[in-house]
Amino acid sequence: MQTIRVAEARKESAVGREVRLQGWVRTRRDSKGGFSFLELNDGSSLANIQVIADGSLANYESEVKHLAAGCSVTVEGLVKASPAKGQATEVQATRIIVHGGADAETYPLQKKNHSFEFLRTIGHLRPRTNTFGAVARVRNCVSRSIHSFFQEEGFLYIHAPIITASDCEGAGEMFKVTTLDLANVPKAAGAIDFAQDFFDRPAFLTVSGQLQAEIFACSLGKVYTFGPTFRAENSNTSRHLAEFWMIEPEMAFFELTDNMALAERFLKRIFADVLAQCPEDMQFFRERIEPTAIETLERIVTSEFVRLTYTEAVDILKASGQAFEFPVEWGHDLQAEHERYLTEQKFQKPVILYDYPKSIKAFYMRLNDDNRTVRAMDVLVPKVGEIIGGSQREERLDVLEARMREQKLDPANYWWYTDLRRYGTVPHSGFGLGLERVVQFITGMANIRDVIPFPRTPGSAEF
Ligand code: 4AD
Ligand code: MG
Repeated sequence: MQTIRVAEARKESAVGREVRLQGWVRTRRDSKGGFSFLELNDGSSLANIQVIADGSLANYESEVKHLAAGCSVTVEGLVKASPAKGQATEVQATRIIVHGGADAETYPLQKKNHSFEFLRTIGHLRPRTNTFGAVARVRNCVSRSIHSFFQEEGFLYIHAPIITASDCEGAGEMFKVTTLDLANVPKAAGAIDFAQDFFDRPAFLTVSGQLQAEIFACSLGKVYTFGPTFRAENSNTSRHLAEFWMIEPEMAFFELTDNMALAERFLKRIFADVLAQCPEDMQFFRERIEPTAIETLERIVTSEFVRLTYTEAVDILKASGQAFEFPVEWGHDLQAEHERYLTEQKFQKPVILYDYPKSIKAFYMRLNDDNRTVRAMDVLVPKVGEIIGGSQREERLDVLEARMREQKLDPANYWWYTDLRRYGTVPHSGFGLGLERVVQFITGMANIRDVIPFPRTPGSAEF
């Protein structure tokens, strides 16, 4: 007898097999004929498998008849064609082993249709619900697709450090990492004496693996990182996390137009893979979360992204006649409402904005000849807004150092980064995709806290 997953047992091809299934009971229904139906789920698919538990089972009266939502079991039995609608197979149990009970009075998932807010308070149990199971499978599919895409394109996967001394985005939104005694911080000349700290200097959780990815791109050509990143910004929005996963490709000899083309192909590949590999989960999101979920992805896969300069976007927004809460002005960052107007009303598809004012972008972006804009690009999608941020990098040493000083950064602190421009500098480009933002976009889930297993946000780090 083989142990198989529910997803496999649900296939017609499993009919006639003696199998062992292991998982959690979703419901039990007793029939007048002295037997029970169990709905069993093991996470391998959204759908459960129906188990028929006959009254003749040795533990039928003592255990099976008391099974309720949340109980864990091993079921051995024969897969049969099911006469019931909506399922090809069912399992006639010959043996049921009960591993763990779940008190129906106190089990929090006994009741159906809890709010997502409530489910966040039971982060240890919410993966047992349909929605969070579906999110986990889609997130897994996206992760695999990302690795497949870059591996097939000849990129090397680089593991960027999580602890670092440099602030990649220069925005000062970093979590400190220290072993100093916070109740008794050592001081030298009135300031904190970091010589006594673990790393001999102030250290932080990384906001981005980009600077390290640049080192490897400027040695090995095409690389990508895929890891956790951390931002201590106090943004309590449906699109921000304090800990999120970012994918950062970095390519030597790529200019901004190559970067944009790669980003577009990359996103389309992810969407196509999810449509092909998660049809059941996507159907669920279409029915329960976002009616246009599948149609939107299908349309994007076969259409071209819009490309616009920031300046063109500002002109369009100004001419739109829309009453925005925040006025549009050249030199200011675009607000969510502006991005949504472009992607949802004006173009109804992803938009790549590029050539942003240098004053609102990071020091490492390549300066244009106009001396006012940089080779930045953001990929915006309907509802979620920015899912990718990237740029061509400044490869000219003198320009880079001047930009650092402009942004009050000391080039000496970035000596290894500037060395890349001192020795064998090359044009190069890259971008960062927020994993949660892309999963949010695909599933239509309204809040980013519901597409990461364990969200970290201001005031919240349980589980
Ligand atoms: O635009 P960002 O800040 O770009 C960078 O970090 C660059 N170093 C990337 C690069 O060029 N290699 O962040 C990139 C993406 C955003 O577009 C967004 O999708 C996501 O990361 N992101 C967040 N996701 C969730 N919560 C947050 N607080 C996020 N901040 C950024
Ligand atoms: Mg950005």
